[in-house]
Amino acid sequence: MLIDYSLRMPKNIFAGENALEQLDSILAGSIKKVVIFTDKGVLNAGLTEIPKQILAHKGIEYTIISEIPAEPNYHQAQEIVNQFKEEKADFIIAVGGGSVMDVAKLASILATDDYTVKDLLDSPLLAKKQVATLMIPTTAGTGAEATPNSIVAIPEKELKVGIVNPEMIADYVILDGRLIKKLPKPIAAATGVDALCHAIECYTSTKANPFSNTFALEALDLIMNNIIEACTNPEALKAKNNMLLGSFYAGVAITSSGTTAVHALSYPLGGKYHIPHGVSNAILLTPVMRFNEPVIKEQLAVVYDRVVRGGNPQLAADEKSKAILAELERIVEVLEIPTSLKSFNVPEHDLEGLVEAGMQVTRLLVNNRREVTPEDARNIYLEVL
Ligand SMILES: NC(=O)c1ccc[n+]([C@@H]2O[C@H](COP(=O)([O-])OP(=O)(O)OC[C@H]3O[C@@H](n4cnc5c(N)ncnc54)[C@H](O)[C@@H]3O)[C@@H](O)[C@H]2O)c1
Ligand SMILES: [Zn+2]
Repeated sequence: MLIDYSLRMPKNIFAGENALEQLDSILAGSIKKVVIFTDKGVLNAGLTEIPKQILAHKGIEYTIISEIPAEPNYHQAQEIVNQFKEEKADFIIAVGGGSVMDVAKLASILATDDYTVKDLLDSPLLAKKQVATLMIPTTAGTGAEATPNSIVAIPEKELKVGIVNPEMIADYVILDGRLIKKLPKPIAAATGVDALCHAIECYTSTKANPFSNTFALEALDLIMNNIIEACTNPEALKAKNNMLLGSFYAGVAITSSGTTAVHALSYPLGGKYHIPHGVSNAILLTPVMRFNEPVIKEQLAVVYDRVVRGGNPQLAADEKSKAILAELERIVEVLEIPTSLKSFNVPEHDLEGLVEAGMQVTRLLVNNRREVTPEDARNIYLEVL
């Protein structure tokens, strides 16, 4: 039975059409040196230009660290943290997707002491916030701008792991739809489905509570009603803004409850085969939700009533729940995200290794409303092999 629950959020959140210009007021204090964290894709898309102009206009010294790889492992994250330490900066601006924001968060708590990223893998709570952070997501998205999590791969274990430390929650967040305007469709689709997974997993999590439900339901409404337009129509700025809001809300929901078996079974697919996080979640979304259906019908019926425009409130919970599962499946299909591991050359003889690795993600499996046994995990992976 749920007893205690809590909610943590970034301290200052700016959203809207010209939200990025709010950087000017954020930088109004005594900030002397800023490091902008980003990656090559985001840099080449010109998304650091406005922040750079504002910094230059205010006469604040800044450096750009743009070598952050997609879905970094903990060695790569450490290299970036080392680079950051040399800059002796007092403010971090992360402009990018989850990969960039997650490394920036680690840097913010490892700036001046001797702990390493590896130390945090063993004891995540060791470090405290040393440098204030501003997160500007350019995907919609991981919700990393809202969460206290940083996800890194552990190559020797062929797994991805979440370092969770409340000190990593951002001080400032800017949600500006212009930044995802030119997001290439495959990235928009996969990262959008990641946000969708966060919302539906949090809403059906054993740790779901009044706080997380509020954010997860609103996220589901925003995401399910905007994802296709946002991903397929470059001019759909309203739908894109709604996706940014939805992915942020889903991130808040993660912070209060937590994701479940989709994310748990997805981590080995990222760790071993380097399948992008959103894609591996999209592959597992339908099989895991169908597996969970017998115990989450009631929740899915509430989702139906909230998100389906012109739906029939008289339908039985069973039918409402089926309709939501069908809609999740349709979204992945329409967005042309892979629905199986076939295109990723995952050999069948790797199945037992996958099951073993997936079952290690107990941090998230305990949140799943239906117990997942190794046999169940095997069946779910077999379905998508
Ligand atoms: N911290 C959390 O709470 C949390 C939650 C979910 C996932 N994650 C992690 O986040 C990472 C994935 O992040 P992601 O899905 O946002 O992708 P990403 O940050 O890895 O970016 C994917 C690619 O998209 C490009 N890109 C990003 N924004 C762009 C834009 N606006 N225009 C053009 N190109 C752009 C990047 O250059 C990169 O090549 C994974 O490591 C995942 O495990 C973290
Ligand atoms: Zn995710």
